[in-house]
Amino acid sequence: MDLLIKNGTIVTAIETYQADIAVSGGKIAAIGTDFNEQDFHDIVDARGKLVLPGAIDGHTHLALPFGGTISSDDYYAGTRSAACGGTTTVFDFVQQNPGERMLDAVKRRDALAAPDAAVDYSFHIGVGDVSTDELLDSMEEAVEYGIPSFKVYMVYDFGVDDGSFYKVLQRAKKIGALVGVHAENKDVNNLLVQQYLAEGKTSAWWHYMSKNELVEGEADVRAVNLAKMAEAPLYIVHLADKMGMDAVTEARRQGYPIFAETCPQYLHFTNEVYKRDRGRDFVCSPPMKNQESQNAIWDGIANGNITTIATDHCPFKQAEKDWGITKKDGTPGDFTTIPNGCAGVENMYPYVLAQAGAGRLTFNKAVQLCASNPAKLFGLSHRKGAVRVGLDADLVLYDPEKEFTITNEAMHGDTDHTIWEGVKLKGYPIATYSRGRLVFKDGEFLGRRGAGELIKCKKLSFHGPEL
Ligand code: URP
Ligand code: ZN
Ligand code: ZN
Repeated sequence: MDLLIKNGTIVTAIETYQADIAVSGGKIAAIGTDFNEQDFHDIVDARGKLVLPGAIDGHTHLALPFGGTISSDDYYAGTRSAACGGTTTVFDFVQQNPGERMLDAVKRRDALAAPDAAVDYSFHIGVGDVSTDELLDSMEEAVEYGIPSFKVYMVYDFGVDDGSFYKVLQRAKKIGALVGVHAENKDVNNLLVQQYLAEGKTSAWWHYMSKNELVEGEADVRAVNLAKMAEAPLYIVHLADKMGMDAVTEARRQGYPIFAETCPQYLHFTNEVYKRDRGRDFVCSPPMKNQESQNAIWDGIANGNITTIATDHCPFKQAEKDWGITKKDGTPGDFTTIPNGCAGVENMYPYVLAQAGAGRLTFNKAVQLCASNPAKLFGLSHRKGAVRVGLDADLVLYDPEKEFTITNEAMHGDTDHTIWEGVKLKGYPIATYSRGRLVFKDGEFLGRRGAGELIKCKKLSFHGPEL
């Protein structure tokens, strides 16, 4: 056999126990205590360490064209960074072009990802055009191929109207797919932008104000209601506000299959960041909200109404963030000319696990939010998300005592700053295995460009808030 990880403490979504893990052919071959060491090529002593399933980041934007540029981590840099933060699978987004069949969009994007990805990956399809029956029907082809997840934007120029959203929800339910939604009220957002700019309000603070608690909350409530009407499951991505959290909580109490994702940035930062000198570095959508919303999201984690944590990793370089002051063409910029998004793929698991170490949640809950729930929700629990015989040996060794201060210098992506600069964590991943291959050890990336595979996901069917 290839590898024995011995003496570690295995942490799953429900259990914590001492055992050894045998790895063969990229899979977890056995879990036990009586292995013969001579049967193994490599032996790793994990005494005093936690052994966790690799995290699944359900929300990244690698090489995303946005705001006149492209997010600065391509599929190699982004997955390299993921591996170094204990994330062994990422779900990226492919945006369907007008007139394009859903599966063609996936294949177009996969041509970019496959040669570069260092860990495994899959896709959600951003719905761009369901104006004809043929395009709506093409959703099924993608589901059959192994991509049963779609995303609808209620904002941005490329966002869809409520009618199209509703149509996609209805169809998704029929064909075993899940619809994710970026919920913000587009019309009010656009109107507030015009008003603030006319009043000379150009700083990053006004980005937050134009996408404030109510702008997101109203759209969350509307999205939940559309899902109820369509009797379809719904996944709200990057939930950041109390009104949305309350709507999700109430819908789940009523038995609806409504799920919510939040991101570490909403758990750690509030809207106060937009008052900083470099507040523009924190510009992302939705923006960080007030303390009341942050408390509500933490409560949602405690009471089970947040189902997953993901990153919305979408880094831009500081010179691009500076377009909020001076645009590319040298004319004065404002908050609308800052590309939206921040880096985070390397920080999610370390941040959430450090919160577990600090007693804010259990390690089992951290694993549930970052690994096992995304696996179940997106249809890849036959491969990933747990430490179980037969699953991919995507494993993380975690030292709960290691002190780590996040700096951009210590990160492994291609961007030049991090909003997490200076944040101190107790506990940090010391090794990551992707299908049994060591891809990260003691601060160093050891993986290989192109080693990641597209993971085909199973059809989905949720009848209630079972996760
Ligand atoms: O600010 C963000 N999140 N940019 C990426 C696109 C999105 O809305 O998820
Ligand atoms: Zn979004
Ligand atoms: Zn996003």
